[in-house]
Amino acid sequence: MSTRMSFQVALNFEDGITRFIECRPDETVAEASYKARINIPLDCRDGACGTCKSLCESGSYDGGDYIDEALSDDEAALGYCLPCQMTPQSDLVLRIPSSAAAAKTAAATHTATVTAIKRHSASTVEFALDVDERQQLDFLPGQYVNVTVPGTDQTRSYSFSSGPTQRQVSFLVRIVEGGAMSGYLTTRARVGDSLEFSGPMGSFYLRELTRPALLLAGGTGLAPLLSMLETMTQQPTAHPVHLLYGVTGDQDLVHLDTLEDYAETIPGFTFDHCVADPSSSASNKGFVTNLIDTSTLHDGDVDIYLCGPPPMVEAVRTHITALGITPASFHYEKFTPAAVRETAEAA
Ligand code: FES
Repeated sequence: MSTRMSFQVALNFEDGITRFIECRPDETVAEASYKARINIPLDCRDGACGTCKSLCESGSYDGGDYIDEALSDDEAALGYCLPCQMTPQSDLVLRIPSSAAAAKTAAATHTATVTAIKRHSASTVEFALDVDERQQLDFLPGQYVNVTVPGTDQTRSYSFSSGPTQRQVSFLVRIVEGGAMSGYLTTRARVGDSLEFSGPMGSFYLRELTRPALLLAGGTGLAPLLSMLETMTQQPTAHPVHLLYGVTGDQDLVHLDTLEDYAETIPGFTFDHCVADPSSSASNKGFVTNLIDTSTLHDGDVDIYLCGPPPMVEAVRTHITALGITPASFHYEKFTPAAVRETAEAA
């Protein structure tokens, strides 16, 4: 039994925005939300109407008192809960059935200073930030923020490649000809520059690991998976975790040394990589789908986390279906340069 004074509750809204609140073990999530001026959907506040019904994706809680019409036993068994009644017994992650705007809240804005710009290759650059009031920034491993490109009014979405508890935050960027962020990072960016970002956002984040996991990265889609791995160094899992990392050409391969370090420090973690370019020096040439078979998929008893460009997401889904496997869960994030991210889940 924990004796913590309060727990952290992540409220994920339907529009992808996440807000974090503190909730004491003797107060309901609805009360704590109200104190934080976040109006999650509520009506009766008495466990009778079901208006507040949300999905708890991680953590433990006391569900409180309610009637079956508000929440059935079957729903409760699936993780649905009533924030007007529930009290936390650990940190929680909840999916709230409204938009952040409807709850009269919005993504938090943070200011930061550029501390490092690392050009890995012609195609990939990484930058790190020192965030002002770092303790005000919470995120789940896998989430992204919208960065305002300095000197412009444009924003671009980047997933953290750093873990939620690391002091500095970092991001991986694929260089795109004519891209706003690419232009900034390759010509004007200097250590010491200030920039602003808002978030965190997205439902592509690591859930509690209750079975083997398969992580799939396409290009700079490696970033959110690095954040998840960093988290696993602190919260070791008893289940095997395998990562497959696919890129177009050798120059796109980054952080293999980091992955090797994780393979040493995270029990049960293994990885492999492949390069599509036939002239690559990599031993696996082709696409990640070549490396996915029924055993990699644990015959379906697997949680899949995939971040990559849309064709990769589609290729993997088609491939898994063709193998006759239905994974226990399939979380993916599609990204395209300069575009809004699309996060989703397929059963
Ligand atoms: Fe009615 Fe929670 S607000 S059940």
